[in-house]
Amino acid sequence: MTDNVLEIRDLAVEFKTDTGITHALRDVSFDVPRGKVTAVVGESGSGKSVTANCIMRIIQPPGKIVSGDMMFSPTRTDPYDIVSLDNKDPRLVDLRGDLISMVFQEPMTALSPVYTVGNQVAEAILCHRDVTEEEAWEEAADMLTRVGIDDVPRRIHQYPFEFSGGMRQRVVIAMALVCNPEVLICDEPTTALDVTIQAEILTLIRDLQQELSNSVLFITHDLGVVAQLADQVVVMYQGRVLEIGTVRQVLKEPLHPYTRGLLAAIPGIVPKGQRLETIASVVGDSDIETAYPLTRLKDGREVSLSPEALREIDNE
Ligand SMILES: Nc1ncnc2c1ncn2[C@@H]1O[C@H](COP(=O)(O)OP(=O)(O)O)[C@@H](O)[C@H]1O
Ligand SMILES: [Mg+2]
Repeated sequence: MTDNVLEIRDLAVEFKTDTGITHALRDVSFDVPRGKVTAVVGESGSGKSVTANCIMRIIQPPGKIVSGDMMFSPTRTDPYDIVSLDNKDPRLVDLRGDLISMVFQEPMTALSPVYTVGNQVAEAILCHRDVTEEEAWEEAADMLTRVGIDDVPRRIHQYPFEFSGGMRQRVVIAMALVCNPEVLICDEPTTALDVTIQAEILTLIRDLQQELSNSVLFITHDLGVVAQLADQVVVMYQGRVLEIGTVRQVLKEPLHPYTRGLLAAIPGIVPKGQRLETIASVVGDSDIETAYPLTRLKDGREVSLSPEALREIDNE
């Protein structure tokens, strides 16, 4: 068995809109090593969620996977290419929620307001496993305790609106992990939460990953989060993978100026004395447009990461 639970190759996704075709992903290739945390980092619109949605095969029209493959090698079944599965393939049912599960930014996307928390976590188990309702509730209670919900015997019968944002996200994490998925995808799971709660949720995800040793794909726009959590980093920009490396490589010696820009936004860890080449010359493609991200430099200046600005900083 390969050491990678997922191998994504040359993935391309297009959205056909009134104004033309948007190339949301182009030639995206990276591996998700088994039992490790892989962070996908990039600014808003860089293609992180589309990548995650491809893995779950939940890309909706007008979006379409136009090429590429994603070899999935779970320990529980034979490997297969997720892209080539027919929409009616029974493996899709196991893929979504059982083998791979996802935690979204906004907890209420995953939770229904009209069912109790216990009901929803138990249902996640009953969907995929042959257990009695009683057993499912027992496991749900157990999982809710593990994610740090207090007073589970009472809380399990409450509705999501009776929980704070952070507690709701804990419930969603319990739902995502209760079937012991081989891959957990977290798509900006803390973005909607207060800063202090964000740190708690990150710690929880990290601790549970170490305990359950599943593979995690953690999507974020924040390289600071990556430093705390990830083993491997994939940097995306405008639908492409710019850089892949260990956290140490990417944080200590970012190859790409865009990555350095993301780093520069974190106080204190901007790499010193390195040449900054232009984005266009590195990506080598004329269709990279001028939507350069803004970033704050260590001295407090806010600059747009255009090739010109980078050259200027470089010359200083
Ligand atoms: N429903 C949609 N319709 C049209 N274009 C879309 C749609 N969803 C995503 N895209 C395109 O895909 C790009 C990447 O989106 P996304 O993966 O959601 O970015 P992010 O990195 O913020 O998660 C967007 O910039 C947009 O051009
Ligand atoms: Mg997104």
